Order: sequence, then structure tokens, then C-alpha cells
Amino acid sequence: MTTTSMTVLEEVQARELRHVLQTYRRNPINLVRGQGVRLFDSDGKEYFDLLSGIGVASLGHAHPGVAKAIAEQAQTLVHTSNLFFHPLQGQVAERLASLSGMPRTFFCNSGAEAVEACLKFARRYWYTKGEPRAEFVALEESFHGRTFGALSVTSDEHYRTPFEPLLADVKFVAVNDPAALRAAVSKKTAAIIVEPVQGEGGVRPLTPAFAAAITEACAKTGALLIADEVQGGLGRTGVPFHFQTLGLKPHVVSLGKALGAGVPIGAALISEEVAQTISYGDHGSTYGGNLLACRAALTFLTELVEGGVMDNVKRVGKVFEQRLNALKQKHPALVKEVRGLGLIWGLDLTKDAAGIVPAGIANGVIVNRTAETVVRLLPPLNITEAEANEALNRLDAALAAVGAA
Ligand SMILES: Cc1ncc(COP(=O)(O)O)c(C=O)c1O
Repeated sequence: MTTTSMTVLEEVQARELRHVLQTYRRNPINLVRGQGVRLFDSDGKEYFDLLSGIGVASLGHAHPGVAKAIAEQAQTLVHTSNLFFHPLQGQVAERLASLSGMPRTFFCNSGAEAVEACLKFARRYWYTKGEPRAEFVALEESFHGRTFGALSVTSDEHYRTPFEPLLADVKFVAVNDPAALRAAVSKKTAAIIVEPVQGEGGVRPLTPAFAAAITEACAKTGALLIADEVQGGLGRTGVPFHFQTLGLKPHVVSLGKALGAGVPIGAALISEEVAQTISYGDHGSTYGGNLLACRAALTFLTELVEGGVMDNVKRVGKVFEQRLNALKQKHPALVKEVRGLGLIWGLDLTKDAAGIVPAGIANGVIVNRTAETVVRLLPPLNITEAEANEALNRLDAALAAVGAA
């Protein structure tokens, strides 16, 4: 039931309130259109999108190449299931192999599913070897998704407690604490799971010393390494994967978000050593890697490498670094620390970051709060320098408004 006196936003809100499960506290804007880094709401107001749908709209909104590719694919063949061959899965897997050095891919539909696949493949590896290992070592401040396995290796009590018991054999260690990691990993550890740059936990890149401790612990105990690159991977740090910058050698890698440039797709990359222990029927997905999703992923990967998107991340990433550090200087009472690299950044505030989101919206820029005090930025990977500057001017205004409040 709606009345003519309601705005479009109010109608949308009222319908959702009646029929959509209330798991999200949405911001009160009704987004209807996008163009590159810009989003528009149903009142025609423009926003600079520094979040890109939490890192998913990796080439911005309504990207002409993505739009053309998925329209063509939709008119040709969208889905066949994994009971048959189609031409595109192998092509995406081949490209991912050349970017990562991981020879094989398992396709699914989201980041959490990719993490689930990695956890299962790690258990399967030890089972096949005839020495089953149950235990996982994960990090504090980690986020790996909301399904039971992924949630079991996610540290935040707020997400975990209502759903316990989760997987029993998970040990959490402090981020960037080599001694804690060494103490936790043993010959019972099936795998260590880490985000090379922690995202939801407040944008925390792992340190080289911690990465070295991970490599050492894996070598000493045989534990596998799962790198969760769902948020920080696929060009976001200016290279294909941040594990490469850290010199890590993961056995399995989870991917999602940016890969489909907006079309849902997840993937687990698998080393040959682990792949050899997996058999037909061990894991599967009805939708995983269908033609539509793979066509979007191929378009994204082509842009990433041949379209110069990774070079753009390096170049515009420097603009973010300089401008964000300048914002810290300008708002010293509000901005405590600037963390990140490439196009993943966090501004750690001296207070809860919740107020920045509406202040951003009022000033025409979309950002997100994570880990309570952190303003997180995950702009499209092809954002230009001029767009970055305009968006950061707007963020500056939002910080000023919150600082003054
Ligand atoms: C590092 C990481 N892993 C896994 C996930 C879960 O991905 P999804 O929400 O697509 O299931 C996320 C989502 O934010 C993530 O940041």
C-alpha cells in the first residue's frame, strides 16, 4: 500500500520493510543509475562512489565493455550447469593461472563460497594423504564471510556468537605477531588462512615479517596456506594479488568481488599439489562459472591487464596516499591513522566512523564504516586522478562536518 504523498524513497523503504528480511541497516538513498565512478539516486542527486559496492563494481558502473559483453552473452547462452563444457571457464582459469601462478581454478558464486571451497580443499588434501588434519589457524580482525565454514575462521564475536557452535578447531592469532603465529601452528594445522590485506577488519596490510613467519610455519609443519584475496586481490593493490608482494606462496586462494565487475562470481585458485588430492564429486556448484559470469570475468581480466587498469591503480593510488595523509594533517583531532595501498584505504578515526557515512552522502560521496572507527575506501580500479581529487574534496567536506559536530 502506498499513498501519493510518499516520495519514491519512502515507497521503496515501506515495501522493503514489509517484505525484505531486515538484515541490513541501509543508508536512506535509493540508487537507480550509475556512470563510471558516479551513482545517481531517484531524486537525480549525484554521488562519487568511493566504495564501488564493497569492491565489486571494479570497473565502475555501466562500463561500456562489460555492458556489451554481458548483453551479448545474455542473447547467446547464460547457463548450462557444470554437467557440460562451455568455452569460457577454461579461458578465465587460464588467465587467472597466468596472473597468479596457480594452475587450476574452481568456480563458485561469491567470496564466502570461495573460502568454503578453500577450507574443504585443505581438509581434503590431508584426508587424501591419509593423515587427516582438522585444525585451522586464522587471524584476529579477520573477515572471510558468513557461511558456517567462513564464519568459523572469522574472528568478530558479533558475527559469530548467535550461530555457535561453529567449526571447533580454529585458533585465532593476533595480526602481525610472528611469535603468536609460530606458537599456534603445529603438525595438527590443516591450513593457515589469512587476508594479505585485511579489509573488513579495518584495512590492515600484513607486514613482511609476519609473512615470513607464515612461510616458515608452513615449511616447518606442512600446514597449507589459504590466501583470501576476495577484497584485496585482483589488482586492487596495483599488482594481481597482494600475496605476491608479500612473497607468500599460498596453496589455495579465494577470489570474489572484483572478478565479475558486478556480476556475481567467486573462484578458488588451487596449486597442483592440492589439486592432485581432489577427486570428481568432492565439491560442486550449480551456477559456478556459468557463461554470463565468466564472460564478465573475462572482460574484467582483459581490462585489468591489457586495458592498463593495474597501472591506473598504481598511479591513482599515489594520489589517494598523498591526499589522505594531507586529510590526516588537516583533521588531526579526527583522523588518527591512514592505512592501505593501491586503491584500498582506511582512515582510522579517533571516534566511531558511523557519522562519516551520512556526512559523505550529504556531500555527494559514498564511503563505508568498518571496524567501528575506520572509514574504508574501495573505489573502482579505473577511477581517474581528477575523479579521485573531486571525490576526496567531498570526503574532506564530510570530515570537516563531522569534526565540527
Ligand atoms: C576477505 C573477504 N573474504 C570473504 C568475503 C565474503 O565475500 P561474500 O560477501 O562475497 O560472500 C569478504 C566480503 O567482504 C571478504 O572481504
